[in-house]
Amino acid sequence: MKEFRRNILITGGAGFIGSHVIRRFINNYPQYRIINADSLTYAGNLANLEDVKDASNYIFVKADICNFELMQDIFHKYNIDSVIHLAAESHVDRSIKDPFAFAHTNIMGTLNLLEAAKRTWKNSEAVNGEYRNMFYHVSTDEVYGDLDFDGTLFTESTAYDPHSPYSASKASSDHFVRAYHDTYNLPIVISNCSNNYGSHQFPEKLIPLFINNIRHNKPLPVYGKGENVRDWLWVNDHARAIDVIFHEGKIRETYNIGGFNEWTNIDLIKVIIKTVDRLLGRAEGTSDNLITYVTDRAGHDLRYAIDSTKLKNELGWKPSLQFEEGIEITVKWYLENQKWLDNVTSGDYQRYYDNMYRDR
Ligand code: NAD
Ligand code: TYD
Repeated sequence: MKEFRRNILITGGAGFIGSHVIRRFINNYPQYRIINADSLTYAGNLANLEDVKDASNYIFVKADICNFELMQDIFHKYNIDSVIHLAAESHVDRSIKDPFAFAHTNIMGTLNLLEAAKRTWKNSEAVNGEYRNMFYHVSTDEVYGDLDFDGTLFTESTAYDPHSPYSASKASSDHFVRAYHDTYNLPIVISNCSNNYGSHQFPEKLIPLFINNIRHNKPLPVYGKGENVRDWLWVNDHARAIDVIFHEGKIRETYNIGGFNEWTNIDLIKVIIKTVDRLLGRAEGTSDNLITYVTDRAGHDLRYAIDSTKLKNELGWKPSLQFEEGIEITVKWYLENQKWLDNVTSGDYQRYYDNMYRDR
């Protein structure tokens, strides 16, 4: 049997960001064996990995990170030496409706993985300055709370102040990850990233939802006045940052990842409308009347903005793509992959979505 240099467990690899990370690692590192553990919730979709599913350095395991015994079995069976942990419940609106699911997966699931790693990696000390093991926890900028419209940015030393059940569950998991280093010496690293956009994102999130709705002449539900600000980063740039941090990040460090690319929701929505209309051959302004202001999200964070200077200065990473280019590529992908959208928006999802808006 072929010997691999590393056996990396990537959790949540069938989701949006996870599928981009999996693809990157399979293609760029044939010397690594990639084990994708994903329970395939509504957000997990093996079609996201169709192009790499037969790679000789790739194994998919349908597994729930909340099942501790199963996680231990995976560590032993595949001789796991590193983890890149992305599996999570990830949508703020769902967390407002069902906070228990978020505590369960995001906190308990992360704790299970930490404990499985701790029990398996008996000696995680560095040899000649190199760590054999690495537990990389992928987190969000939402743990920092929100900012005023005053130009300030989240840095790695900004105090945690989560506001939604989603961000509270991610903040809690971050604390557990650091505690496993400080208490048990587990080699860990954490990154906190801003909003991602790109292909294969489940269309309950703003950008794919609105592209799909514009195409089908459906209303675009803008929460509140659309004044909230997000810092958008192309998902492939996030995957590239994860690659750099995994290989060169310092143990116990935190790295913020962001695009220095702030948009109010309403300005972003106008760009999306314009791009979709143009690519569909519609006259400019055709879909403007789809904008529908609806009741604001409870606890809606005003502004997120990331300072990723540390990642740039220490590890040389910066975003590769201008936002205008990234949005063009992204809109094209969704318009050309209507079947993918139809598959993921049928059945249970449609029922959930209809109910959500009935309750508003
Ligand atoms: P996603 O919802 O698209 O995918 C989550 C994946 O995790 C799915 O494949 C799902 O099946 C899997 N999963 C969920 N519960 C599981 C469980 N109990 N066991 C095993 N697998 C399970 O999420 P995403 O947007 O790709 O986010 C990935 C990670 O990145 C998350 O940890 C999220 O907090 C973080 N993050 C996301 C963004 C963003 O803009 N999307 C930004 C910063 C950080
Ligand atoms: P979202 O994609 O859910 O990401 P997050 O809440 O993690 O930032 O939402 C991005 C922004 O868009 C956020 O300010 C909420 C807003 N939004 C809407 O106005 N309408 C919608 O239908 C959705 C899904 C989001």
